[in-house]
Amino acid sequence: MAAPITYQQLVDRTDHFAPPAVLTAAAPLSRMVYPDGHVGWLATGLEVAKEVLSSPAFSHNFHSAHFPMLKKGQPFPAMPIIPGMFIHMDPPEHTRYRGMLTAEFGTRRMAELAPRIEEIAAGQLDALRAQGSPADLLPDYIRPLVLRVLSEVVGVPYEDTPTLAALADTANDDDVPLEDEFAAEKRAFFLTRDLVERARTAPGDDILGRLTQVEGLSDREITNMLLVVFVAGFATCEGAVAAAALALLHHADQLAAFRAAAASGRGTETAVEELLRHTTVNQYQIFRTALRDVRLHGELVREGDTVTVSLPAANRDPAQFGCPAQLDLGRQDAAGHIAFGYGAHACVGQRLGRAVLGTALETLVQGLPELALDAPLEEIPLRARTPVLSVQRLPVRW
Ligand code: HEM
Repeated sequence: MAAPITYQQLVDRTDHFAPPAVLTAAAPLSRMVYPDGHVGWLATGLEVAKEVLSSPAFSHNFHSAHFPMLKKGQPFPAMPIIPGMFIHMDPPEHTRYRGMLTAEFGTRRMAELAPRIEEIAAGQLDALRAQGSPADLLPDYIRPLVLRVLSEVVGVPYEDTPTLAALADTANDDDVPLEDEFAAEKRAFFLTRDLVERARTAPGDDILGRLTQVEGLSDREITNMLLVVFVAGFATCEGAVAAAALALLHHADQLAAFRAAAASGRGTETAVEELLRHTTVNQYQIFRTALRDVRLHGELVREGDTVTVSLPAANRDPAQFGCPAQLDLGRQDAAGHIAFGYGAHACVGQRLGRAVLGTALETLVQGLPELALDAPLEEIPLRARTPVLSVQRLPVRW
């Protein structure tokens, strides 16, 4: 077997669209050296990635994880199970919490929400136009659009969402020291817990309001559930819209194809799947721990071993996707991607994610036919030191 890949190689992203070359060149399952010296595994093939994410032999529970992991240059302490923090639980606890949310993102709820998302996008486009060209799409269109949608779906007042978003940015920034991350998480917890207390007496028609009606669910559990949903939804939606807008604006032929699909009335669903596959913003920190010795892709993975799954590399697996590095909105094989993860923890909000991404892009490219990047690609700084990839600014003109 080749020399182990290092954790640093996994996170060292420099290209706007492609994951580090070492990942796309790797075998479907390789050894990886973690920052604490532990030699675990890295899955970059689509099939093996799906197996890790869907097998009960692998835990998403922080408590079972091989610690200390290194985070932000410091050992990350082993974590107890936190009530309501279901993203880091295994079944059956995970199933119970997640079950309270599935209808919130189901097809019926999404059909109800679709016109409202269009209205919000149209409002943000008006604001962008009023402000005038040139602009930075991130603060002037994408962030407020995503925050308005999440505010209404989750039940966080819009005026509180920029604070929560800034705290999430701090917590997710690998260059922020651990003590500052914990301080940001604490502030976000207390801000959200105040909202839960208020919703107990005046529940709204939203996730928060409905969770307060669930018998036996404590304020602490609801607070943590809301934080998981808000933080998981905000950074990914913002990053996905930014990355997809950048990809379209950089590939003129694909932008024309997206515009044509939007104008045709046939819809942009296929194009959106390809944009999700090609950009795959959840770039690292998707990992599981083996609960027992298990055979994986012909290798013996030992109990306690950490297996990281690279979603961007899996979504460029040449065994699954023809010309995987190419953005091709007409391709028929994009729907097999795992940009929303896979298995029990696959994104619960993926219908909303798709709706926000599709509507934000359609509204933008149809409303501003002359839209173009206002800087060369190499001058658009990546926000790469975070598990969810984005850009620091997205300068455009029209
Ligand atoms: C395009 C946008 C989005 C992308 C790319 C995305 C991606 C992902 C991925 C890859 C996972 C799996 C994490 C893992 O296995 O460790 C995940 C889980 C999750 N996502 Fe999303 N997501 C998006 C939008 C949303 C939205 C809009 C929400 C809710 C408002 C949301 C809420 C969640 C939650 C709560 C989980 C944890 C599910 C669980 O543990 O059962 N996401 N997402």
